[in-house]
Amino acid sequence: MGGKKIKRVPTKKIVDKIVEDCDVVLLVLDARNPEGTRNKRLEKMIRERDKKIIYVLNKADLVPIDMLKEYRERIKGENPDSTVVFVSAKHKKGTRILRDAIKRHLHSRGIEEGKVGIVGYPNVGKSSIINSLTGRRSATSGLVAGLTKGEQWVRLTKNIKLLDTPGIIEPKDEEELVMLGAIRYEKIKDPVTPAVKILRSIHALNRDAIKRLYKVDVRDAPIEEDILRKIGEKLNYLEKGGEVDIIRTAKTVIKDYLEGRLNYYSLELKDYGQEREDNIDFIVKHLQDFPFVEDPHGIVKHLEGVEELKRLKVKRPLLGSREIGDIVVVISFGEKSYDSGRKKVEEYARRNNIDLYDVAKGKCGRNRIVVGVGEGKRR
Ligand code: G4P
Repeated sequence: MGGKKIKRVPTKKIVDKIVEDCDVVLLVLDARNPEGTRNKRLEKMIRERDKKIIYVLNKADLVPIDMLKEYRERIKGENPDSTVVFVSAKHKKGTRILRDAIKRHLHSRGIEEGKVGIVGYPNVGKSSIINSLTGRRSATSGLVAGLTKGEQWVRLTKNIKLLDTPGIIEPKDEEELVMLGAIRYEKIKDPVTPAVKILRSIHALNRDAIKRLYKVDVRDAPIEEDILRKIGEKLNYLEKGGEVDIIRTAKTVIKDYLEGRLNYYSLELKDYGQEREDNIDFIVKHLQDFPFVEDPHGIVKHLEGVEELKRLKVKRPLLGSREIGDIVVVISFGEKSYDSGRKKVEEYARRNNIDLYDVAKGKCGRNRIVVGVGEGKRR
């Protein structure tokens, strides 16, 4: 890193200092889990010091706009003076609106040299926001918690400067870190507790969401470990004695949550356009127990029968691949014509060194689907 000496500062001290020094605090929330990434104690402290909070709902690309608006109303209901901005730092969307909101506040307070700081839980996108606001790629990474090279201010405009070290709010426990995607769930000893916590928080926001994904009826039951057993049964995750493999089930729940399949909002509302490759996951999921993955015609027939896919409306086509055993399956979903679907699949295979054996086409509801099957070329 060079330059100034690096020293370790407790994260809480950095957060406190940001609140103390700045006129405006950007509280970054993960739009997929806004309530879980708020910190009411900190918000109160900021307000008591008569500083401005701007709630930044980041990763807005992953959440339907209706849900974002609903959440904004909720925050405004609690605190009518607050400002809520939707941002996708990754896609550089919403940063101009954010910048304008900062300017407006400083102007209304008659502040000439404004100072802005950013705080939030790990992994919500604080560094990405600093980068997209400043147009650079050098904010102190959130991953090296507590490392700072001393104060580093960057200019946002002639009259506004931004503290380039984000304030990290410390999660209470390992479960929170797992839910934030800040530590790898594969590595933790007990995936059951966070999995139950995830199910509970989803259930609190939408009482149909769990049923929608796992076909387990939980409407009125309190969410306890037992629900994992029911989900495990549906997924057919059984151990030798016929007992449900609860650890494997818990890990699947966490994975589904982190990868966006388990949501409090409905997938059909979502605009898939911005992250195409990731999202063939929810198509591939239906191939998990399908025995004939080497036959694209079989795959197409099988997928044509899946209700969830029939109902789906994709605004932009999806394209991606997955390895299933030795086989690589390439899927194009929602293209305008079979021809363009086939082209996309073939191009994709070429680019990714996949030797296609065969390609098939079909239709899931109104979505054209083209499936290629092959294997990775040896190098
Ligand atoms: P932090 O400083 O708060 O810890 O978060 P950071 O900016 O490091 O971002 C954490 C992860 O969230 C990164 O993913 C980043 O790409 C992703 N991210 C940030 N903003 C957005 C957004 O608006 N939309 C989406 N979809 N993702 C966002 P990563 O997997 O750790 O890294 P990368 O491989 O994506 O770079």
